[in-house]
Amino acid sequence: MKILGICGSHREESNTNKLVKKVAEASGCTYELIYLGKLDIKPCSGCGACMMNEGQCSIRDDMDQVYEKLLLADGLIIGGPTYFFDLNGSTKDFIDRTMAIFYRGVGTPYNPDMPWLGDRPHAGKPAVLITTVAGSGHMRSIETLKYAMGDCTKMNIVAQLAEVVAMNDVDDMPEVLKRADEAGKKLGAALKA
Ligand SMILES: Cc1cc2nc3c(=O)[nH]c(=O)nc-3n(C[C@H](O)[C@H](O)[C@H](O)COP(=O)(O)O)c2cc1C
Repeated sequence: MKILGICGSHREESNTNKLVKKVAEASGCTYELIYLGKLDIKPCSGCGACMMNEGQCSIRDDMDQVYEKLLLADGLIIGGPTYFFDLNGSTKDFIDRTMAIFYRGVGTPYNPDMPWLGDRPHAGKPAVLITTVAGSGHMRSIETLKYAMGDCTKMNIVAQLAEVVAMNDVDDMPEVLKRADEAGKKLGAALKA
């Protein structure tokens, strides 16, 4: 079972990225982490080419390799920090670009009466959602992740972490680490069920 973990903060020693890794480790499954800060992933241009071109995005950048990894993933962990009371831009840009794989002819139709909405390669597959925040705004970030990965992508959200960390390091927050461990175990259990 292969999990893909999306680390959406660009910050060295990022709390969000640390939690993505902790959840992956606790799952007991094989995993690969993708650090968005190390990749060139441009925003979706909204051209709609993917919808008419079997899911081929018109933009050539590092998302090319990520599409292939996404299609092979049995489960996802997606984490982004909270900026200005919502999910940070890089993580949202990444999510927007995933729309292309709805048109690869893989997975179940989103709605058979509306074929232009494409298919969902990850329908029913388990996902864990993560955000961290200094003080407040985290619940909106989690809502953004839930709409994207649950309602739109049709994944099975098995756990969500919305952690208020102030200026601390999550490595010094045992309660947060415990919740990450529990989330990882839930993900592992869902994958092995
Ligand atoms: C541009 C920017 C916007 C932020 N906006 C908020 C905010 O709206 N509310 C808040 O409590 N913290 C805010 N923060 C603090 C981050 O949410 C917090 O430091 C978070 O844990 C960073 O995650 P990371 O360690 O994974 O990079 C902001 C930080 C930055 C850099």
